[in-house]
Amino acid sequence: MQSRAASLIHLRGRSLETGDPVPLPLVQAATFHTPGESTGVHQYGRFSNPTWDAVEEMLTHLESAKSLTFPSGMAAIAAVMFALLKTGDRVLLPADGYHTTRILADRFLTKLGISVDTRPTATFLDGGFEGYRLVFVESPSNPNLDICDIAAVAEAAHAAGAIVVVDNTTMTPYGQRPLELGADIVVAADTKAPNGHSDALFGHVASRNEEIMAAVHDWRTMSGSIPSPFDAWLVHRGLETLEVRFDRMCSSAETIARRLKQHPAVQLVRYPGLEDDPSHNLARAQMERFGFLVSLVLATADKAEDFINGCPLMQAATSFGSVHTSAERRNKRGDAVAPGFVRIAVGCEPVEELWAAIAASLDRVGS
Ligand SMILES: Cc1ncc(COP(=O)(O)O)c(C=O)c1O
Repeated sequence: MQSRAASLIHLRGRSLETGDPVPLPLVQAATFHTPGESTGVHQYGRFSNPTWDAVEEMLTHLESAKSLTFPSGMAAIAAVMFALLKTGDRVLLPADGYHTTRILADRFLTKLGISVDTRPTATFLDGGFEGYRLVFVESPSNPNLDICDIAAVAEAAHAAGAIVVVDNTTMTPYGQRPLELGADIVVAADTKAPNGHSDALFGHVASRNEEIMAAVHDWRTMSGSIPSPFDAWLVHRGLETLEVRFDRMCSSAETIARRLKQHPAVQLVRYPGLEDDPSHNLARAQMERFGFLVSLVLATADKAEDFINGCPLMQAATSFGSVHTSAERRNKRGDAVAPGFVRIAVGCEPVEELWAAIAASLDRVGS
């Protein structure tokens, strides 16, 4: 019995014929040769592309559910909302998740007569789900790393007749499996760890419900919200090493979070893997790993900026999930967090060198 990770790397190899290239060729084509009757073949680049097919085969294997790709994580989220919602529906979003999801809903869904409510992730179950058509979960939430019980949300939301969508961007299918926990749909920004090299935006939607996937597919074809073949090729390459990178990143994050807690300059650390973190018990129950994001609070915004910019193994950059460790003061992006709140996305550097660089920068900044 092969693991998902082992068989993922050999997915393409299974269907190769003599003389085929072992690595995936990039098919950069808007049109395909289609003389006469031409159903069941590639015709036009907005409908289908062989490079998308390859990356979707990998994502389908990883999610154990049909997956469709999009040009960004937000395009995947928008596809779910616009394909499945209609005037009069009510939607529940996390109050503390990725802010663009809320902005998208506020600016565009409300205009269509869809009402939008928000609730903190840590108390997401409180109040029930009666009257909602779609319940959107992000767990752990970005950037506070609060957690909600996905299985309990799915059960209660289904009883109330709602569809449950989980944004699994921070965890990837190796770290958390929302569909197994009862969610109907997973959305993710493959811009992050699946691509892993900060050089492409990408996203996907996965579901075992054929009707949902047919609607999402139709939305993609009609709206033209399609990924570029080259970005699909990059993400295909990234997925081949996701398991090894994710493993290193999560292990290093566990080590670093423990040590950050001991440092006098650090006022607060949030990491679901810490035994005394409010998220820990739920994280242990529903996640396969504790992730690679670590949040911490320093005394002031200036100290936080100085800490990030003065650490030679830390890239000052938004986003997360790349090979390089990066960090950002999230207050400047509009998140409701303290001015000195920093989200570190732990990368693939050797952990002892990374910790030495982080510790030295914290020592220099001081408390
Ligand atoms: C949790 C989460 N979901 C979705 C997105 C959107 O992804 P993209 O930037 O690829 O549109 C992000 C981006 O940071 C994110 O953090």
